[in-house]
Amino acid sequence: MKLCMIGTGYVGLVSGVCFSDVGNIVYCVDKDKKKIEELNKGNVPIYEPGLEEILKKNYKQNRLKFTTDLKKAVSSSDIIFICVGTPTKKNSNSADLKYVFSVAKELKKIIKSYKIIITKSTVPVTTGDKIENILKNLKKRKLVDIVSNPEFLREGEAIRDFVYPDRVIIGTDSKKANKTLKTLYMPIIKKNSRYFNTSRRGAELIKYASNAFLATKISFINEIANLCEKTGIDVKDVSLGMGSDERIGDRFLRAGPAYGGSCFPKDTRALIDTGKKFNTDLSIVKTVVSSNDKRRFLSIKRVEKILNNKLSNKVITFLGITFKPNTDDMREASSIPMINYFNKKNCKIRYFDPSGEKKEFKNLKNVKYFDKIKPACLNSDLIILHTEWNDFKLLNFKKLVNKKNFKVYDMRNMYSPTRMKKMNIDYFGIGR
Ligand SMILES: NC(=O)c1ccc[n+]([C@@H]2O[C@H](COP(=O)([O-])OP(=O)(O)OC[C@H]3O[C@@H](n4cnc5c(N)ncnc54)[C@H](O)[C@@H]3O)[C@@H](O)[C@H]2O)c1
Repeated sequence: MKLCMIGTGYVGLVSGVCFSDVGNIVYCVDKDKKKIEELNKGNVPIYEPGLEEILKKNYKQNRLKFTTDLKKAVSSSDIIFICVGTPTKKNSNSADLKYVFSVAKELKKIIKSYKIIITKSTVPVTTGDKIENILKNLKKRKLVDIVSNPEFLREGEAIRDFVYPDRVIIGTDSKKANKTLKTLYMPIIKKNSRYFNTSRRGAELIKYASNAFLATKISFINEIANLCEKTGIDVKDVSLGMGSDERIGDRFLRAGPAYGGSCFPKDTRALIDTGKKFNTDLSIVKTVVSSNDKRRFLSIKRVEKILNNKLSNKVITFLGITFKPNTDDMREASSIPMINYFNKKNCKIRYFDPSGEKKEFKNLKNVKYFDKIKPACLNSDLIILHTEWNDFKLLNFKKLVNKKNFKVYDMRNMYSPTRMKKMNIDYFGIGR
């Protein structure tokens, strides 16, 4: 089939590359000229393990094309995926749909023959109805079906998640569109994932409800971790004990910093906003958002306590600063408020992250990026393990820091407290 992905970010690029890998011709469109130029040179703009290899293979085979020419890409395709961002609107909880609606308005001018238009972007319930309204003349002439097909891939595991998803959700009441999409997804659903056709609004809500539920699991175990810290219990044992119950499950039940990333924070807020619009009090989701906001503050307080409230001139090294490993995405990473705060308190902050230097900290006077672990750690007062990249699993802090009386704050419970004690390292974990 011929596909057009509008928006070549984490979702559009990964989906486009993976669809091309099973034989489709895919046009990846972006309005960001520089991004498209780089992609046409074979440079992948995001850090996503395994992506570059599949991208290059399919580009060489002419199945994958990168362009800024929306008209040509849409006219040449049967299925159009909208994969643009849906960030939070300024000073509000609601999702900003300006990029989605601007694409719909462009499509209105371009489409001359039947196309299936799919929102893969995460959009609030009734967004599909609004897109259909923008395209009502095309709909009347049966030139479009507007479908919701939310994406569930996780950054860092995006290829595997796209190729082996737990489920593919198709929100449409059009039999024609559903049949075509089932064929498109056949190479994927053949591998044992569930293909689920529901209403368009249903598909839109499934995405938000899923993310809010996962955020709830994280916030739940984070609050239990707070209780563990006061009662001398290791939260890892609680996670294991709880997670062994199949009704609960052990995934997303690991205590750590406040959840971040490009999805959970904005999607939980947008769901609260949808509840408000439909006069429904989503009190659990509201509590999760407020619990997570508090957690950002708690992490800062914890560090202050670890450093006995003497912050000025303390050398703090962050190992990992992205919101999770195997991605370069900094959106809503919990390291941002922490580093901003310690910068203001005149700490000397160093950071190393395998995905490289970050623009977020470039103008902070007390923050320095290191491209190697050892010099980042040398003579540090406090090492903060913020993101659990594999690179940090087997570090020997005694050798790396090479000074007496340093401390380690392990925000992912990556290390064994017993081993740390044996090595005489002043160690602090989360909920233990
Ligand atoms: N990142 C994830 O892990 C993830 C997972 C599932 C769902 N989602 C959802 O998918 C959507 C996209 O997320 P993302 O992380 O890929 O965003 P992103 O910011 O990485 O990419 C969006 C891209 O769209 C482009 N764009 C914006 N307007 C455009 C236009 N009119 N024409 C062409 N290109 C345009 C931007 O230049 C950008 O490259 C969001 O709704 C997000 O919530 C994201």
